[in-house]
Amino acid sequence: MLAGRKILLIIGGGIAAYKSIELMRLLRKAGAGVVPVLTRAGSEFVTPLTVSAIAGTRVQGELFDLTAEAEMGHIELSRSADLVVVAPATADLMAKLASGLANDLASTLLLATDKRVLLAPAMNVRMWEHPATQRNLETLRGFGTLVVGPDAGEMACGEFGPGRMAEPPAILAAIDAALTTDTALAGRHVIVTSGPTHEPIDPVRYIANRSSGRQGTAIAEALVRRGARVTFVTGPATAPRPLGCEIREVETAREMLAAVEAALPADAAIFAAAVADWRVAAETRSKIKKQPGAEPAPLTLTENPDILKTISRREMSRPGLVVGFAAETDDVLANATAKRLRKGCDWLVANDVRPETGIMGGSHTAVTLITDAGAEDWPAMSKDETADRLAARVAEALA
Ligand code: C5P
Repeated sequence: MLAGRKILLIIGGGIAAYKSIELMRLLRKAGAGVVPVLTRAGSEFVTPLTVSAIAGTRVQGELFDLTAEAEMGHIELSRSADLVVVAPATADLMAKLASGLANDLASTLLLATDKRVLLAPAMNVRMWEHPATQRNLETLRGFGTLVVGPDAGEMACGEFGPGRMAEPPAILAAIDAALTTDTALAGRHVIVTSGPTHEPIDPVRYIANRSSGRQGTAIAEALVRRGARVTFVTGPATAPRPLGCEIREVETAREMLAAVEAALPADAAIFAAAVADWRVAAETRSKIKKQPGAEPAPLTLTENPDILKTISRREMSRPGLVVGFAAETDDVLANATAKRLRKGCDWLVANDVRPETGIMGGSHTAVTLITDAGAEDWPAMSKDETADRLAARVAEALA
């Protein structure tokens, strides 16, 4: 979708501005044109010379630039692009846009544009979590503004948490998704769970399920390609994280449930995670030691919350469509049909995971979709194709 498209890229004042240089390079490599706008604060982090050299065009900076106004006024500049991207989107830029301030070129362009706006926020954890920023984020979402990231991790300021700007390939994917013409799921929010959960036994050991996270990742990407906003709640999976989603990394089933609940409301939720059914009743804080001559310590297990069931049976803000997965080795259809009713979900995607099928951890799968209308066998195909078909069905159901 990127070849021949024009991106107006506003670079705000944050340390993540250096990543926007890489973003420009990726955009140009993909065949897109970039018109860079550097805020005054942004120019403290990257120089206009670097920006214009990588963009291959002059950088816009001042609102009252007589030469620029003579060549192309700021209103025209705001409308000549296919998409307006703000990376890094600082707390200040978000606040300005949320309240309609326009006192420099960047904020004026954001207010004057008739195109979609995609923000890649980057700021200190506290600034991100501040109610003012969160309120602005909600306001902006209400305007139809798209948001990618931020990621959680170590920050330049030494603190840890959400606030790191999404990586350039993820922003590129979000740009690509924003430009796609398939908008069947535009404005829809879908939660996807993926990967295994890890349930600690002691600080070094854990109980886990086998799951690569490939199917959940493919589903998230297929939904993003249809224009959905996707919150991707993942356990420690080996598959690379899907691009263009809001990623929530968790370890345990209980954390996964909390992350799903925090992401509500949603139009649909797809539970592809292989959640551990049990956890150790009393996790010890120190490593369990082998005692010479003694029996191994017994492990007492307790049941984990069933995320699919909990969400399916919610009275308040239950997603309109809840989809569960069932990995079965015997009597696949009968077990999966019973499971759909027991869990209270709308659809259940069943797959036969007997080792000889090679589905677990492999790239292909053959599923049966169970709805209240009955069971549909889908032919064997790649997990990506299965994901695409499922995303198309979700779009149909939400239409
Ligand atoms: O009961 P079983 O684990 O076979 O059910 C599979 C479905 O239930 C999957 O969609 C899985 O993500 C979900 N599940 C869950 N929470 C659990 C166990 C399973 O959400 N604790």
